[in-house]
Amino acid sequence: MNWSIFPARASTIAGEIDALYSFEVIVAGIMTVLIFFCVFLFAIRYRRRHPDERPRPIHGSVALEVAWSVIPFLVMLVMFGWGAKLYFESYTPPRDALDIYVVGRQWMWKVQHPGGQAEINELHIPIGTPVRLTLASQDVIHSFFIPAFRIKHDVVPGQYQTMWFQATQTGRFHLFCAEYCGTDHSGMGGWVTAMTPADYENWLSGGGKNGTMTEFGERLFTQFGCASCHVMGAQGRCPTLQYVYGHPVELEVGGTVMADDNYIRESILNPNAKIVRGYHPDIMPVFQGQVTEEQLMQLLAYIKSLGGSSIGSLKQQ
Ligand code: CUA
Repeated sequence: MNWSIFPARASTIAGEIDALYSFEVIVAGIMTVLIFFCVFLFAIRYRRRHPDERPRPIHGSVALEVAWSVIPFLVMLVMFGWGAKLYFESYTPPRDALDIYVVGRQWMWKVQHPGGQAEINELHIPIGTPVRLTLASQDVIHSFFIPAFRIKHDVVPGQYQTMWFQATQTGRFHLFCAEYCGTDHSGMGGWVTAMTPADYENWLSGGGKNGTMTEFGERLFTQFGCASCHVMGAQGRCPTLQYVYGHPVELEVGGTVMADDNYIRESILNPNAKIVRGYHPDIMPVFQGQVTEEQLMQLLAYIKSLGGSSIGSLKQQ
């Protein structure tokens, strides 16, 4: 039987995470053994041998106190520095990452690829390519966990979360929901299929026949009536969405906000939350409850495609 403490190490960060984990377990192990050794040693060595025995008081040792303060401090500092470095690495996706969108709901994961391919409880990805996941929840808090990639992120309703990874080997890896979310939480899992880039291209060409995410988004943009106002030359009643994504936006109340995924999401669901300078509130309808998280992601893909920072997505073949 193939026995191993760790699950497969299938991402670029997995080895480093395991190294940090092992370091912490070894330090904790050494400390545990040392403490228990001293407890037993002192209990035996300094036990009271006669009823009238009185110990001699000790008045302390500066050298000893400095040693047991400074050495653990330095060891903790290594854990902190190492952990912080890994944290920033694992939460800063490279700019050229492939975008994939994930919606969690009771009790399944729904995945959309930029080319329009959709899957449930399955995630197909190419190896050797950074992949950025944009995650949203339609109901309660879930947590997206791929043990073989050593990544996990809570998926909190009402906002987007992002996480990224780069797979290093092909195969099928378990994915889980790691936050108790109701009756079928334990069944809210599936499989990640890591493929060679060529196989991934092949897989992509098998789906998305109804259009790319951007095309879906454009259709919704028209269907919800956004297009009648938010395009150039609409008598200036609404801010144009060209070149908005990834740029700072001036607000009516003063100050600016970055037009990122979460700002655009909020502005669709609750347009009056942050009014763009020079525009009136209450013109745009509130879409809270009118659009699903998946539709929001499609609208976002469309708005990104109108210009702004590169969205770093793989174009549909
Ligand atoms: Cu979703 Cu647990």
